[in-house]
Amino acid sequence: MAETLENQALHLLGQVVNEEAGENIVAMGMVKNVSVSEGKIDCIIEFKENDQKKNEKIFEDAQKALKEIPGVTKVNIITTLHKENSTHANDEVNSNKTNSVGTNQIKYILAVASGKGGVGKSTVASNLACAFKSLGLKTCLLDADIYGPSIPKMIGINEKPHSDGQKIETINRYGLSTMSMGYMVNDENPIIWRGLMVMKAINEMIDKVNWGAADIMVIDLPPGTGDVQLSLIQKLKISGSLIVTTPQDIALIDVIRGLKMFEKTKVPILGIVENMSYFLAPDTGKEYKLYGESKTNEVAEKYDYEILANLPHDPLLLEQCEKGHPLTDLVPDHKVSQMFIELAENLLKRLKLEQLANTN
Ligand SMILES: Nc1ncnc2c1ncn2[C@@H]1O[C@H](COP(=O)(O)OP(=O)(O)O)[C@@H](O)[C@H]1O
Ligand SMILES: [Mg+2]
Repeated sequence: MAETLENQALHLLGQVVNEEAGENIVAMGMVKNVSVSEGKIDCIIEFKENDQKKNEKIFEDAQKALKEIPGVTKVNIITTLHKENSTHANDEVNSNKTNSVGTNQIKYILAVASGKGGVGKSTVASNLACAFKSLGLKTCLLDADIYGPSIPKMIGINEKPHSDGQKIETINRYGLSTMSMGYMVNDENPIIWRGLMVMKAINEMIDKVNWGAADIMVIDLPPGTGDVQLSLIQKLKISGSLIVTTPQDIALIDVIRGLKMFEKTKVPILGIVENMSYFLAPDTGKEYKLYGESKTNEVAEKYDYEILANLPHDPLLLEQCEKGHPLTDLVPDHKVSQMFIELAENLLKRLKLEQLANTN
């Protein structure tokens, strides 16, 4: 059934015309992916040129067309720009994209994703980064959540990175090399990110930052799947993604569906972490269920992903996020820190397997 809905979607998109070229966007190869499930459509459109007005028109027409399909309640169109026409300020920098943070210099790139905000994605990303470091890996932490960068707070950084006008230096803390948009902008004037600005910002955090050689880079993604995710997969060879969720997170299915599209572009989903699964009483060590039955199991089973960890709601973990020193680095023997270290070991195994599978 999904097949026919996808065909129907393609048929409707075939009526969206790129006026300049006088041809429809399907015939021009601009529609990179369409998937329909449970009344929701995900679609990737790759623009041929950097013309905001024209691109917006195509976007709106496509959205209108897809909404015509009976039973469709949600249309999620991700847009991207064809690389040859990328507006990157410096083509020289652009051309060595895979060398600067490619597999040659950073062995594994792990993207931490979530369906919605507030589930603990940044907490997991920063503690996991510390866990990888404690395993002896040279670790980078990239805060790609440009809409709500929280890594500066989580690792207690309140300074601007140094730059010689060419390259920007990472800020190093707790043995991690880090970069975040939050270092550059102040809280009072948040940037409103639009369309191609996103791609430019992401490109700069990769090309212009002197990351150096490392074993692993942990990327804190914005919630959902959108422009940032797409810019990153165009730019980097991401080794795998990890999904963070909470027991009652109804956005979990959305992000899995979104990331499944990226699996087609060779970014495997390594597994799911359920955060705040239960409350860990600091005095007695007793575990209390906070919510009713978890929805995570059901979704994981349906899509065939493993739940790699069930992390507790832990007051000390929260306190250390507030204080800017991840618990995993501060108290490595703490029960929760040990969970992060175990998770890091597990992920490392999976990353190695994925890499082997890719080279064979
Ligand atoms: N396991 C946990 N126990 C206690 N507090 C947590 C836990 N995970 C996250 N938090 C807290 O919840 C809030 C949201 O977490 P955050 O990592 O910023 O979420 P996201 O990045 O998904 O928006 C933060 O205040 C964080 O300290
Ligand atoms: Mg966050």
